Amino acid sequence: PAEERIADLLGRMTLEEKVGQMMQLDARSGDLDDLIVNKHVGSILHTSPSDLPRAVETVNTKTRLGIPLVIGDDCIHGYSFWPGATIFPEQLGMAVSWDSDKVQAAGRATAEEVSTTGVHWTFSPVLCIGRDTRWGRVGETFGEDPYLIGEMASAIVKGYQGGAKAGEPLAKDAILACAKHFAGYSETQGGRDASEADLSHRKLESWFLPPFERVAREGCGTFMLGYESIEGVPVTFNKWLLSDKLRGAWNYQGTLITDWDNVGRSVWEQKIKPDYVHAAADAVKAGNDLVMTTPQFYEGALEAVRTGLLDESLVDAAVSRILALKFRLGLFEDPRLPDQERIDAVIGSDEHQRLNLELARESVALLKNNGSLPFAAADAKRIAVIGPLADDAQAQLGDWAGNSGQVNWMPDGHPRDMITTVLDAFKTLAPADCDVTYSRGANIVDLVPDPEGECYPDGQPRPKIGVSAAVDQAMLDEAVENARRSDLVVAVVGDVVQLIGEGCSTGTLELLGGQNALLEALSGVARETGKPLVVVLMSSKPMVLPACVIGTNGVIVDESAAEGTSALLWAPSPGMKGGQAIAEIILGITEPSGRLPITFPRHVGQLPVYYNQIRGQHGNRYADLTQDPAFAFGEGLGYTTFEYGEPAITNVPDSGTFTEADTVHAEITLTNTGSRKGTEVVQAYIGDIVTSYSWTDRELKAFKRVELEPGESKTVAFDIPVTDCTIVDPDANRIVEPGEFELLVGHSSRREDLKRAVFTVA
Ligand code: IFM
Repeated sequence: PAEERIADLLGRMTLEEKVGQMMQLDARSGDLDDLIVNKHVGSILHTSPSDLPRAVETVNTKTRLGIPLVIGDDCIHGYSFWPGATIFPEQLGMAVSWDSDKVQAAGRATAEEVSTTGVHWTFSPVLCIGRDTRWGRVGETFGEDPYLIGEMASAIVKGYQGGAKAGEPLAKDAILACAKHFAGYSETQGGRDASEADLSHRKLESWFLPPFERVAREGCGTFMLGYESIEGVPVTFNKWLLSDKLRGAWNYQGTLITDWDNVGRSVWEQKIKPDYVHAAADAVKAGNDLVMTTPQFYEGALEAVRTGLLDESLVDAAVSRILALKFRLGLFEDPRLPDQERIDAVIGSDEHQRLNLELARESVALLKNNGSLPFAAADAKRIAVIGPLADDAQAQLGDWAGNSGQVNWMPDGHPRDMITTVLDAFKTLAPADCDVTYSRGANIVDLVPDPEGECYPDGQPRPKIGVSAAVDQAMLDEAVENARRSDLVVAVVGDVVQLIGEGCSTGTLELLGGQNALLEALSGVARETGKPLVVVLMSSKPMVLPACVIGTNGVIVDESAAEGTSALLWAPSPGMKGGQAIAEIILGITEPSGRLPITFPRHVGQLPVYYNQIRGQHGNRYADLTQDPAFAFGEGLGYTTFEYGEPAITNVPDSGTFTEADTVHAEITLTNTGSRKGTEVVQAYIGDIVTSYSWTDRELKAFKRVELEPGESKTVAFDIPVTDCTIVDPDANRIVEPGEFELLVGHSSRREDLKRAVFTVA
């Protein structure tokens, strides 16, 4: 049994070998042989697969005990670093689908691909909550709602790990998942990456911990820590979070890893530890197992044990968890080296490309439609595809997926012919006698030298930063002229990889460069000619759209301003097949079914604008801004219409009240009242009508995707345990308060979209 082999190995390991096991180093940071032989390193990341056979040989021939390396990498929405791997929509796009089965399938496909390459472990999924959308990593989240995040995360973890539960061995085509960044990393001040976070234990319990608790209990193999501090204690050293909560209350047996140089940064950047000896000792005492990319940890931890600052038994405990993970992967028997035959058969396979397209179709949300969509292309003579992102493969892939070399610290890689841009797709899908033309229309950013010399995570200086590009009048005029001569104008605008991602938060959420001017001009043409203008927002996160698209920007109220824009679609970094999915929806080949996993503000000053805010006084609002979002959590249109019946709670006990042991069973009838087949995402929220402590008005507790033929009706049922109807008290305990609750079922989080039933808990 693994326990005996772990005990045996531990008994034979020197302190140096044990401390080395706890280190994960960047394969690019030194000579791999040296790291393995002299630093006894236990894990590497960002490696080149061609180095792996040699690394395994070094382990086997030049180390005393031959303990295998565990290889990790960021396979975030597909294997980012492998040219030709299937790149799915980013996590936020996956969440737009509200389709856990497809998200699980994407995790499975990713694991099948990654596991052929010698990588054993992905640093995914992200369970952070996307509340301040200025934060650069919002696109890496599943959105703003803890329940939806939990559903999506649970699904993708099952996909990665092939359904293996806590401690169970992982099949050859499965990889370890990593729930990150534990916990509250997204809550940093002003959305600035990795700055201080204002997080009380109550706040953590209320929103940030539940999705992590779910995947911890379901057996997610590893957890990665955040960069931020909670109540003055960086997560890396936070015993309350790591020992009391994760290891204690949740009994988590998996392996913890820090984020990039968290331990080192506490010394050289945060100045909260006097030296690497104290930093190493405190990190181990707090419960960390693997320390990512802090080479100084080696000497620091050795010194800490030798001087009595750190008890060796804590090192032993961490190492045994790392060894357990290696046994779980079966690495002692099979190092899972790259396997060319499987690589050829699996990576980017037709089956995965098909799945990618299916997920991309569901990852697009139709947010506005004045009836012009679906566009009947049969008689169209000319379609103008306009905008800086209409033919931009990199923007479509988003972060963590290099294509054009714009993501400097990633290799170029994903072949252009695997990526279908919006322009490519219209050229293929438009009728044969219809001209599809392209105008760029605007630039988004200019790259300028970075005066503050920021660094990429691998320590390479970031040479350039992006600033908003000036309007290029000639480019704009050419686009306008093109639009004027077309039957349909599709304008694809959004953000770019230079301005998103780790360390890349933005103060503004507006469309940069000449994009607003372009939309303004195109909507002018649309008003004049009456031809439809479809705006496609291809951005990693919600952005603030101009009045010509959404009518009012929160300050200026002018609904008529948006009359020129016929329709709006949002496609958050939709992956290799995103362009095809978008064009199919516009042309009515595919029914739109995406729903927002995150609220769209009208104005950056409205933030925070997420739907489940705590009920306050004075209307929770600014005096100079409407607090009404541009689009609310859960919103999204299709091409048909649905009618909801009244929700019925069908199992009310004879006493008239439920208890904590009960589950509320609710049913509602949904009818497709339109003339097209369509999918509705039926959402069920719970509101605790009167609470002893301030709480939110309603929270998502369940949802179902339901497909209906025209005229068809279905009964949709939900089972919601009363133990899910909780609030969190001031001591951070989750409690069910007796009293009346609302069950709200319907189309989106907006009250006016929800039908209500009331039940009582004794
Ligand atoms: O996995 C990532 C993490 O999300 C952010 N910092 C770097 C890690 C490894 O690349």
